[in-house]
Amino acid sequence: MAHRFFLRLLGEPELQSPDGERIRLRVRKHLALLAYFATHRGQVHRRDRLADFLWPEASPAEGRHSVAVALSAIRGKLGLRTFDCSRDTVRFLAPNLDVDLDRLARGDVLESELTPVLLIDAFLGDFEVARAPEFMLWRDQMRARWLPQIQNALVILMDRCRRTGDFSAIESHADRLQDLDEYSEQAVRAKMEARAFAGDRVAAIRIYEEWRGRLATDLDTAPSATIEGMALRLRSRGFEAPGSARVPTALTEQWRHQAFIGRGPQYRALYESWEQTKSGAGRHGLLLGESGVGKSTLAQRIITSAGLEGAISSRVQCYEVEREIPYAAVGTLVIGLLNQPGASGTPPEWLGELTRTVAAVRDRFPNLPPFSSADGETIRIRLTEAVLQLAQAVAEEHPVILVVDDVHIADDASVAVLHLLMRRTRGQRVMVLMTARREELDRSPHASRLLESQEHLGLQVLDIPPFTSDEMHELVTALGNADGRPVPLPLRRALVRAAAGIPMVAELLHDDWRRRGADCLALSLGAMTSDLPGSTTEEVYRRLFHRVFDSLSSETQSVLSLAAILGERLNDHPLYELVDLTIGQCLSGMIELARQR
Ligand SMILES: Nc1ncnc2c1ncn2[C@@H]1O[C@H](COP(=O)(O)OP(=O)(O)O)[C@@H](O)[C@H]1O
Ligand SMILES: [Mg+2]
Repeated sequence: MAHRFFLRLLGEPELQSPDGERIRLRVRKHLALLAYFATHRGQVHRRDRLADFLWPEASPAEGRHSVAVALSAIRGKLGLRTFDCSRDTVRFLAPNLDVDLDRLARGDVLESELTPVLLIDAFLGDFEVARAPEFMLWRDQMRARWLPQIQNALVILMDRCRRTGDFSAIESHADRLQDLDEYSEQAVRAKMEARAFAGDRVAAIRIYEEWRGRLATDLDTAPSATIEGMALRLRSRGFEAPGSARVPTALTEQWRHQAFIGRGPQYRALYESWEQTKSGAGRHGLLLGESGVGKSTLAQRIITSAGLEGAISSRVQCYEVEREIPYAAVGTLVIGLLNQPGASGTPPEWLGELTRTVAAVRDRFPNLPPFSSADGETIRIRLTEAVLQLAQAVAEEHPVILVVDDVHIADDASVAVLHLLMRRTRGQRVMVLMTARREELDRSPHASRLLESQEHLGLQVLDIPPFTSDEMHELVTALGNADGRPVPLPLRRALVRAAAGIPMVAELLHDDWRRRGADCLALSLGAMTSDLPGSTTEEVYRRLFHRVFDSLSSETQSVLSLAAILGERLNDHPLYELVDLTIGQCLSGMIELARQR
């Protein structure tokens, strides 16, 4: 395979040497002829026809001469075995030349270990040859002939982006596809997704509306159900009165100015689990990684993706302070499902059963039968059944994803219910997606049992490693762009070094730099990292925390301390009186905290 030349015909044509260097043919018509030969490799061409094709204004003798010069120029680049020539004919062999069209014809678009991803563009791009109308006609014919394969390739590329969460690259493929076919639904869908993942719901809806209008007027057709559903979900704000929300919401605002970097393989694995769940074979996921590495972010991105495709999700963030409260985590998941379409289809006796542990169920459904008397293990089994009944009722209408963030600190009773739930939803449209810190998980006997029975549960365990240094640079660059203030290279290096692959630390250090400039922690850490024993990340966190904490007013410090204890109950403002804060002080403290975040 070594020493092969490469000819690109999709887009601006370019001949490349075996080392990937661009090889220039000095005469434009020589490159045009090479493109023609390579498109019809193996065919026998008459020399006089070739002359008419590219040198129509020349006399027969001049034309013949021009062809001969072109052949020798091409042979000069590709070697002696390029042509099989006779007096009147030419056959292009070039056994040492790879042409991108051949890969396109095979649908071999994505990169492999040996080949890079195929660059896709219109046949010969904007390449033109003056005073050669026949050539230009041929170019346009080829363009039309290869169009379906080109569109297909762009769809493959977009699908790969969708599966790996790369919603910045998807947009350029979509633009290209739309240039080739202004009515392409695939292109419009990808553009909507790209806008949604940039937190710009309104633009996504506008793209859809504009396209739908053109479809109706120009072609008298309507969008497919898939894309229409997506638009509906983007439009729904989730503010509708309880019970009236027939359309689940896809919230996207959280992604505004939030770059998403890397994580392709893990995203893909989760996306495939989601697809299986959607088709009725519930699969579950557990993301493992250290604090701040990006577990919750990845889970949330998948939720957004699935949400655009119609999934309903309910999420709970577990807190240490609630660890001793039985069923706290599962209770939150249940509350998240209560107002979803389909929930009211749960058999009343099972909703009644839920009220034993989740009182809020009765607020939503006032006339439920009382729950049966039971104890210990029976309660757990009945609760599991009730949660399952609720999830199934919702899943009748839309696939369901239950997210349990930081399951290593979930209460044991909830973990036991989740365990049973996963086992019983393997044939349903219900997915359980959890995140955890690995070392902590090992310390929690209940949660670590999940790992032991992963196969049995249909549970896919994915490690989320720290960012590579390249990914970290990309993140810091993105942080600077979002902020309109590029991060100078020396500082970027210092940030990348100090953050040790943890995006959360990079974000905090970046924020610290914005506030303090040259006095920032990242620059003073250089010396520290070499002489500190143990985990430097922890030390960075500790120092960052103290810097932020010290900058708060004493009232806000009190609010923060209390909030740390209250966890989820942060919104119970009266509890703040415990530390002698009025509701006003408490609110302004919260606002300051939110600003600092
Ligand atoms: N893939 C990513 N690309 C860009 N930023 C990320 C990525 N993953 C995480 N982050 C950022 O890092 C921070 C911590 O991520 P988070 O998901 O909360 O970590 P974890 O849940 O593992 O503790 C978040 O503020 C998030 O914006
Ligand atoms: Mg998290």
